[in-house]
Amino acid sequence: MTRILTITPNPALDLSTTTETVRDTSKLRCTAARFDPGGGGINVARVVRRLGGDCLAVFPVGGATGQRLRGLLEEEDLPCHCVDIAGETRESFSVRERSTGRDFRFVLPGPELAPAEWQACLDALATHARPGGFVVTSGSLPPGAPADFHARVAQRARAVGCRVAVDASGLPLAEALRAGVDLVKPSLRELRELTGLPLATEPERLAAARALVRDGRAGIVALSLGAEGALLVGAGTELRAPPVPVEVATTVGAGDSFLAGLICVLACGEPLEEAFRTGMAASAAALLGLGTTLCRASDVRRLREAVTIARI
Ligand SMILES: Nc1ncnc2c1ncn2[C@@H]1O[C@H](COP(=O)(O)OP(=O)(O)OP(=O)(O)O)[C@@H](O)[C@H]1O
Ligand SMILES: [Mg+2]
Repeated sequence: MTRILTITPNPALDLSTTTETVRDTSKLRCTAARFDPGGGGINVARVVRRLGGDCLAVFPVGGATGQRLRGLLEEEDLPCHCVDIAGETRESFSVRERSTGRDFRFVLPGPELAPAEWQACLDALATHARPGGFVVTSGSLPPGAPADFHARVAQRARAVGCRVAVDASGLPLAEALRAGVDLVKPSLRELRELTGLPLATEPERLAAARALVRDGRAGIVALSLGAEGALLVGAGTELRAPPVPVEVATTVGAGDSFLAGLICVLACGEPLEEAFRTGMAASAAALLGLGTTLCRASDVRRLREAVTIARI
């Protein structure tokens, strides 16, 4: 299978726990911490691997937290290219409030990257990306990384004959689209932020996605709509998928699983509709777990049957 390379400029060690009620000032007694690897591109690579894809995760690591992250990924046998950095990899902290089922997620900015450090991540792409493969660049940028980091990834990926997918937000997303990408996976929130439009109705959402395709900013727009499902817009193809009916335990990692499912199938040269089906099934499978467990391959296979796709 074609190699999929993911780039995560700002990975994290995800610490999750639960407490009865979140209150200020008083000590909140928590259950034992669970540690999971975190960061958009790392999650995409983990799901791609579970779905049988050939992938490599590229990301910076530093300090004891970075070593712990690397160790967790080694336990999963995830092929990684780690770029050593002087700063300490961040931890993300999430707390499930048992009395209400609400999740509180605390996200730190991440370590400052020196120019040579973020450049080394880009250089890894040139070394490891295979022509005909896919590069997925995903997640927030740490301090020190340039706003056009994802755009630079896109340019380098295309220069070596790879297709490129981006999952980002704000200015780094806008910059990547300016450079041009083969696939973009905005959530509705991210597309609203990008366009400055309310995008309240499907025609408005389609128009925004079509504009990205028409301008050459993205070959395919996979617009994820949370509990409303997703839309997929490419040249000559427009598809809608309502959400797969499953009991939602968590929404953490749903977007990453959606993207991984899409890319896995597209990288094999299969039709867009098949990729969309697997993406929807993977996102639904991610809703079943707790914390950042992401999706299981057996759930993805089973839920593929439950996905309904309509042509628009
Ligand atoms: N509450 C939900 N009910 C059903 N399906 C959901 C729900 N939340 C997410 N999904 C599925 O997961 C996909 C991705 O979710 P979403 O649109 O929230 O993206 P995201 O990248 O996780 O969001 P963001 O980056 O803005 O936090 C959706 O397209 C949908 O298929
Ligand atoms: Mg997302």
